[in-house]
Amino acid sequence: MLNFSFQNSTQIHFGERQIATIANEIPADAKVLVTYGGGSIKSNGVYDQVAKALENHQWSEFSGIEPNPSYHTLMRAVEQIKAEGLDYILAVGGGSVIDGSKFIAAAACYQGDDPWDIIAKQHPVDTALPLGAVLTLPATGSETNPAAVVTRDGTKLPFYALAVRPKFAVLDPSVTLSLSPRQVSNGVVDAFVHVMEQYLTYPVNAKIQDRFAEGILLTLIEEGPKALAEESSKDLEVRANIMWAATMALNGLIGAGVPQDWASHMLGHELTAAYGVDHARSLSITLPAVMKIRREAKADKLLQYAERIWGISEGDKQQRIDQAIAATEAFFRSMQVPVRLSDIELGASDVEVLLTKLEQHQMVALGEDKKITLEVSREILNAAL
Ligand code: NZQ
Ligand code: ZN
Repeated sequence: MLNFSFQNSTQIHFGERQIATIANEIPADAKVLVTYGGGSIKSNGVYDQVAKALENHQWSEFSGIEPNPSYHTLMRAVEQIKAEGLDYILAVGGGSVIDGSKFIAAAACYQGDDPWDIIAKQHPVDTALPLGAVLTLPATGSETNPAAVVTRDGTKLPFYALAVRPKFAVLDPSVTLSLSPRQVSNGVVDAFVHVMEQYLTYPVNAKIQDRFAEGILLTLIEEGPKALAEESSKDLEVRANIMWAATMALNGLIGAGVPQDWASHMLGHELTAAYGVDHARSLSITLPAVMKIRREAKADKLLQYAERIWGISEGDKQQRIDQAIAATEAFFRSMQVPVRLSDIELGASDVEVLLTKLEQHQMVALGEDKKITLEVSREILNAAL
């Protein structure tokens, strides 16, 4: 196992009717900005629950944070914070709203000339406004982690700062019942790939991390299709297990002390930035291709994954790896997401566009061993055609 330091300081309130707890989580004298997206929280009752919980607080709101949150939109929220003297942010939504709010929290306290440098130049963020989260879409893990991804004019890049990790997060599975089947499958697939990015590398004898990771994968494989099936799609137990799986997939625990990959994500971000592909649907295309091209470097873990997740023990090593990749693709297809660039009508000329973007963003040494050069990315994207 590798050395690690681990802390996850986010207070989690899990379960039905837990939105009420924000009344006590946010200091009574805070001036709160409630941030949200395109309005789903107005139609599913979440907004009303938040408003009720904040009835004794001073608060304003900022709406319209879009999927893959835009820098320009977020900077309007920063202006509002400064104009109204606000000092606490409550993000109510999915990964985009929470990520966007992390950037707002950091940019509102940024002392340099241009807040975009937090992302473009990875300027360290030492201070940020305190942030709480009410999660409405289980997928990204953003509700308890220090990461955020922001898009600006065709460039989609992450930043990481402990100062923006939410102070608390409310996870009420019942608020996920209003999600469309597309967003449900996106969430399950994103969480699945988060586990794979931290699990499918090379062995370092990290038994706890491996078995926790495998437990999350098995849960997503078991519960994901149930959340899409007519007869169980409104089952709160199913939703609860998916919600907790997605949080656990990217809260730092399974990634502590192990090598991490993240190439599928970096390639996927370019697909989203260039073509507007949903985040999870970019990953369901990139991950199988990464598995194929990196099968030698990942062979030991691929074989472990084959056996422990899919029960594959017959055949020689290469055959078992082939079967494990095929099983992964079949799972993604059962979750109704694409697994090839051709499934979303992209082709060879688009691979060149993506490679140019990767180069522009200096994504030229990806993967757990930094061996995914542009040439290897070309092979991966060609394998995804
Ligand atoms: O905007 P509203 O109206 O709320 O609608 C949203 C949005 O259209 C809707 N939605 C959310 N909760 C709902 C709901 N609709 C009905 N009922 C509900 N309860 O779902 C749509 C998608 O929301 P979004 O927040 O974009 O989805 P997701 O949670 O998948 O977040 C994706 C973003 O997170 C980033 C992605 O890159 C992408 O920008 N990620 C963040 C990570 C992190 N912070 O650690 C890691 C991830 O790998 C990922 O990169
Ligand atoms: Zn993701």
